[in-house]
Amino acid sequence: MPDTNPPVELAVVVPVFNERDNIAPFLERLDAVLVGIPHEIIFVDDDSPDGTSNVIRPIALRDPRIRLLTRIGRRGLSSACIEGMMATAAPCIAVMDADLQHDERILPEMFHRLRRDSLDLVVGTRNAGTGSMGEFAENRVRLSHVGRRLSRLVAHCDLTDPMSGFFVVSRQFLDDTIRSASGVGFKILLDLVAASPRPVRFTEIPYRFRTRLHGESKLDLVVSLEYLELLLDKIIGEWIPPRFVVFALVGSVGAAVAMALLWLLVRVLGLELLVAQVLATWIAMTANFVLNNELTYRDRKLRGRFFWGGLAAFYLACSVGGAANLRVAELSRRAGIEWYLAGVVGLAVGAVWNYFITSLWIWKRARRKNSTR
Ligand code: GDD
Ligand code: MN
Repeated sequence: MPDTNPPVELAVVVPVFNERDNIAPFLERLDAVLVGIPHEIIFVDDDSPDGTSNVIRPIALRDPRIRLLTRIGRRGLSSACIEGMMATAAPCIAVMDADLQHDERILPEMFHRLRRDSLDLVVGTRNAGTGSMGEFAENRVRLSHVGRRLSRLVAHCDLTDPMSGFFVVSRQFLDDTIRSASGVGFKILLDLVAASPRPVRFTEIPYRFRTRLHGESKLDLVVSLEYLELLLDKIIGEWIPPRFVVFALVGSVGAAVAMALLWLLVRVLGLELLVAQVLATWIAMTANFVLNNELTYRDRKLRGRFFWGGLAAFYLACSVGGAANLRVAELSRRAGIEWYLAGVVGLAVGAVWNYFITSLWIWKRARRKNSTR
């Protein structure tokens, strides 16, 4: 094969979701700073409704250094980064946002430092030296600090900006960590660092976080919950799937809602207990289904007719789970176990049953027609 192009030395992986207007200015800026570094740029787009892929495709057609991976029926910043990183053969891999918030001018230095000092990782930091959060909203700064403190629970090195989405890693480091990465949520850097089997050789380069020009941030309440899920996975994931923990939490909220409703219906509205019980259970189950669809199984969210079919199946699954719960509690009680322990055993069996049935049957996997937009 003729050897025309110099081998790629740096791959820049760029997760994108609804960033249509940022693509051209982003590429212009990268082009200006990456002169002299043989590189490729890999956009990973989760089928953005604003047509981001359609903006990238014609550019990729003309320029072989620009590549596009469009994922269908998927969402998630971390998993997008992971797939982008695995799609390149480059020895150094950068991850960077497309919204111009990360200062591309430090990227060459990040790359050179990684190579020169044979490091695992170079992080762009907003919290050291001349770095700063810029005009980042105050509540986001606070959230970021809480996240930083929490990250110490799982990270084996003291990064000043573990929440950063701007970093460069070596192929070797990636290879050593990627198999233990959770891929949940937004925090891919923390995910990799926590997965490292040995102390991470890293350095940090400060920059000032810029404000977005176009589009909006995708960091919302669900993403914050995902961060807790990532931490949970790192801490107890080997024994209990974090999805189950979220499922159980949602279930407890449902139980509390049912009790509150029961009180309301019986005490305030004066309904008969049996009627009230049926109503309260029905409402709580419905609320539970919605919460599970939004949180526990948000990556496999059911919509349209799949939503209604799922709801019917959920009622059915819960009735069986509830019956199993009662039966097990009764049997345990008969076996001479204390009443409260019998209750707990019943609940646990019911919860595990419900979890398996919902994850294997109702939210099996995102259906193709039921995309995640
Ligand atoms: N493919 C894909 N899928 N890309 C996504 C998704 C997704 O579900 N969600 C967000 N992105 C892309 C955005 O299009 C953007 O390019 C980048 O990921 C960052 O998303 P933002 O929504 O702009 O996040 P942010 O600015 O609030 O926070 C980012 O910067 C912080 C500072 O580095 C994130 O990278 C944080 O993790 C980071 O702490
Ligand atoms: Mn951003």
